[in-house]
Amino acid sequence: MSYPYQIKSLEEYQSAYKQSVEDPEGFWAGVADHFTWHRKWDKVLDWNFTGPEVKWFSGAQLNITENCLDRHLAERGDQPAIIWESNDPEEDHRVLSYKELHFKVCQFANVLKNNGIKKGDRICIYMPMVPELAIAVLACARIGAIHSVVFGGFSAQSIADRIQDAQASLVITSDGAYRGNKDIPLKSVIDDALVQCPSIKKVIVLTRTRVPVSMIKGRDTWWEDEIKKVETQGNPACPAVTMDAEDMLFILYTSGSTGKPKGVVHTCAGYMVYTNYSFVNVFQYQPGDVYFCTADIGWITGHSYIVYGPLSAGATTLLFEGIPTWPDAGRMWDVVDKFKVNILYTAPTAIRSLMGFGLDYVKNKDLSSLRVLGTVGEPINEEAWNWYNENIGKGRCPIVDTWWQTETGGILISNLAAVTPQKRSHATLPLPGVQPLLVDEKGEPIPGSDAAIDGPYHAKGDGTAGSGNLCIKFPWPSIIRTTYGDHDRCRQTYFATYPSLYFTGDGALRDEEGNYRITGRVDDVLNVSGHRIGTAEVENAINMHTGVVESAVVGYPHDIKGQGIYAFVIFNGNKTDEILISKDIVQTVARIIGPIAKPDKIQLVSGLPKTRSGKIMRRILRKIAEGELNNLGDTSTLLDPAVVEEIKNNRL
Ligand code: PRX
Repeated sequence: MSYPYQIKSLEEYQSAYKQSVEDPEGFWAGVADHFTWHRKWDKVLDWNFTGPEVKWFSGAQLNITENCLDRHLAERGDQPAIIWESNDPEEDHRVLSYKELHFKVCQFANVLKNNGIKKGDRICIYMPMVPELAIAVLACARIGAIHSVVFGGFSAQSIADRIQDAQASLVITSDGAYRGNKDIPLKSVIDDALVQCPSIKKVIVLTRTRVPVSMIKGRDTWWEDEIKKVETQGNPACPAVTMDAEDMLFILYTSGSTGKPKGVVHTCAGYMVYTNYSFVNVFQYQPGDVYFCTADIGWITGHSYIVYGPLSAGATTLLFEGIPTWPDAGRMWDVVDKFKVNILYTAPTAIRSLMGFGLDYVKNKDLSSLRVLGTVGEPINEEAWNWYNENIGKGRCPIVDTWWQTETGGILISNLAAVTPQKRSHATLPLPGVQPLLVDEKGEPIPGSDAAIDGPYHAKGDGTAGSGNLCIKFPWPSIIRTTYGDHDRCRQTYFATYPSLYFTGDGALRDEEGNYRITGRVDDVLNVSGHRIGTAEVENAINMHTGVVESAVVGYPHDIKGQGIYAFVIFNGNKTDEILISKDIVQTVARIIGPIAKPDKIQLVSGLPKTRSGKIMRRILRKIAEGELNNLGDTSTLLDPAVVEEIKNNRL
């Protein structure tokens, strides 16, 4: 497969960027021409950011799985599509060729049809990182069902919220999941969730850990039994359902600054074109390369850069069930060595955690196959970047620092490996087709920060540097279309802060060459180990505990996780054992949201710093959590300034 839209030099980058600004429709039609369509578009783009209403490739018809599977069969049917490495290094790995993956996706799509699933139905997927997860996702897309994958670290309550919001009718799960030395009882979590979910009619359960599970008559059925049923039906084919360009492909829930996660909606054509385009360009994928992204398919990174981007490009994508530190901290390097990985894409948190184990775990691993390294999900500090560069890339692999979000669907700002310049800890330049700019609090553009007007790259450093809130002023094909069931929430969250702009929620700097450096969220969203967690969500969970009167949650710098969760809690119950109380609160959060949102520190306080109108002054709490005790700003306007002294003195 060749990628005629793969940018190969800095000059090509500059001219592609220019074309994408001057003639965006022509630019994107040029990329979209290289996909399989049932019908081509009438219009490339229709949009306004006030609705918002964004339509890419209107009138076109397609099925994304034909682009991910069928179109590769003739040329590379026997090439590995998915290589799967188990959690257990002793268990045999599996390789699924494009032919085999196509067969299994069709087969499972027929299972879904047998269970009454039709185009437009919502399916919740809660599974370990096994090939069947990718198969389930693609099988939904094959028949036009809308998948909502929920990461295995979320609790029953979180799953129930997501199922109810989407009114899903079927769940796909497994008996359990292996993660390092833990067995996670996925089906039993699902059983707890479903007590609150009358919309669910069927549960399909894959066998993975053989932990005992309760199978409810009429509702629950085994994956393997369902496959047998379709086998006896004879015809393994499953024609791909024709989808309109703007039909929903999936919902993925993500945290924001309110208590309730929102269902980010992506649609078929634009998402397909953009994930493929960005995959091929950022990583500079070459046919035959083995590509390894360590994310979980439960997050957007897994959707876009384990499943849809790589498969639509006919790539070999490696799926790893385990964790980087089990059985020891050399596991990731073992996987790279074993499969001769060429491109490795991981999170700064993983790098920082492996750094802490020392170089013994890297020493005897053959990493010479690596050509490109990538990071995603959070800012990468210089120390981690240097370690990655020196010890993994051996100073010869470009590192792409990819900035993007669940809502953007694909990478928007990143260097293109060995094509555009890299700069340590900077996401660097926008991809052609992406028009970022920085604005101040009032929405006034920061001079020199608008890539489309000021030019994306200034080799001589003659651009103007500045800092502000990161916005995008023109749609790209995989932009969020709506938040499921509540379009106004989408407008308010992303398009109302600054008129006519998509607001990312991130702050950024731009240097004189045009490189963007993302500095982190400017809203009440935390980034813990690259996972997005809303402070309001954690507060709601803490407040569920019987003894809690009120709480306030802020982030603080954490050596490994990037940010840790610091909770200030007013507790009314019996306070004789503060350690036990903290443990109970942590347990409550794990129950309500999931283990990923457990607070790292809980400080019991008698009051919270509030303004006279009752608003919690998080700025002060954030400073205290960060340890900046002498720099709290003006506290005289607080309702009860004395409370600040107490909180400071008892800081954990
Ligand atoms: O704050 C930014 C941070 O992660 C947020 C998006 O989180 P999520 O939707 O979960 O998607 C994560 C994977 C794409 C952003 O608003 N972020 C993401 N990538 C980077 C980053 N911060 C700094 N540098 C990055 N490369």
